[in-house]
Amino acid sequence: MGENARKASVRVPPPRLPAKGAAGRRTPMKIIVTGASGFLGREVCLAALRRGHEVLALGGVRAPIVPGVAQARAFDLCAEAALESLVLEEFPHAVVHCAALPTIETCLADPARARALNTEVPKKLAQLCFHLGAKLVHLSTDTVFDGVHGGYQSTDQPKPLNLYGETKAAAEVEVLRYGREHAAVLRTSPIIGNSATGDRGLHERLFVAWREGKATPLFTDEIRQPVEVSNLADVTVELCERGNLSGLYHWAGTEAMSRHEIGLRIARHFGLAAESLIRPIARSEVPSAGARPRDLSLRLHPLAGKLRTPAQSFEEQLAQLRIPRGCEAWYEQVTGRKVVRRLEKGLDF
Ligand SMILES: NC(=O)c1ccc[n+]([C@@H]2O[C@H](COP(=O)([O-])OP(=O)(O)OC[C@H]3O[C@@H](n4cnc5c(N)ncnc54)[C@H](OP(=O)(O)O)[C@@H]3O)[C@@H](O)[C@H]2O)c1
Repeated sequence: MGENARKASVRVPPPRLPAKGAAGRRTPMKIIVTGASGFLGREVCLAALRRGHEVLALGGVRAPIVPGVAQARAFDLCAEAALESLVLEEFPHAVVHCAALPTIETCLADPARARALNTEVPKKLAQLCFHLGAKLVHLSTDTVFDGVHGGYQSTDQPKPLNLYGETKAAAEVEVLRYGREHAAVLRTSPIIGNSATGDRGLHERLFVAWREGKATPLFTDEIRQPVEVSNLADVTVELCERGNLSGLYHWAGTEAMSRHEIGLRIARHFGLAAESLIRPIARSEVPSAGARPRDLSLRLHPLAGKLRTPAQSFEEQLAQLRIPRGCEAWYEQVTGRKVVRRLEKGLDF
């Protein structure tokens, strides 16, 4: 029997989910969240807690600080033996893997680390989860595509233009090799929202530039389909809970638009003079733009039809954004509006 025929004949058991409790409610799962000191990982921890699960939050060099999480620690995922011991000891029902070098620039600055963290670590996690019968939700990116035609379906072939996309595309293959029935790979788009550090969300970076009097250059011909961080976090936890959803999926908001349009809509949402704060530029004006895919819009089918968590319009995403800390005085001065802080998610947004 050939290798492929032998693989096809092996029946892989479904992930080991807790038994349903009274009235069909699932008993809580134990979920390990990697990258929990980062932008998305922190929100995944909060979403898992909201849904009644137990969370072990792992950061890299920083121990995650997430209200309500009982167990949080700094942990180098590239230390393979230690990772194996941790996962076997903790015996989770699911792992949500958010840790990564998640930009073109950081991957180029350290290619060896990019390959280790973005490809080898998810491969190891997929092997461990397969061994335990645990569900793995692995975060991937729209940047696995070349951006030539846009409107990508989850069945389209990746064709990365840069090292970041290459390392993430290689990880998808490895994760699905070990986790055909245990893993969900979730490709997603630029993430917007409020971050704990106040500098990870797109609107937060724009506000800092505007406060410093800089008009931000944004491409009119580079298309992206933003997703809001807490909506994406809910989807990752729902995927942990749904034993029957494995394979390769896309998730984003419902609207694709140019980076310029995204910036204009953010500024207008806050009542700011958008045209004076944002400078339109074309990709042809920037020599390095060739390594950046042009149109990374995603089709959300079939996942959008299977989940309870709905995909959000851009208006719904904008409604979640808060004035970044440190920008209040500037904002009050230019708009005449008063900034009122509310305590949300352990932060004074
Ligand atoms: N942000 C986006 O717009 C976007 C778009 C598409 C896809 N994604 C994907 O979404 C995921 C999350 O992205 P993000 O923006 O939330 O990333 P992020 O904020 O940059 O967080 C990265 C996380 O990785 C951790 N990390 C780095 N090296 C590590 C190591 N050796 N061991 C353990 N942890 C390590 C960091 O921990 P320390 O900082 O504590 O070291 C941090 O918690 C990534 O897989 C990314 O590819 C993101």
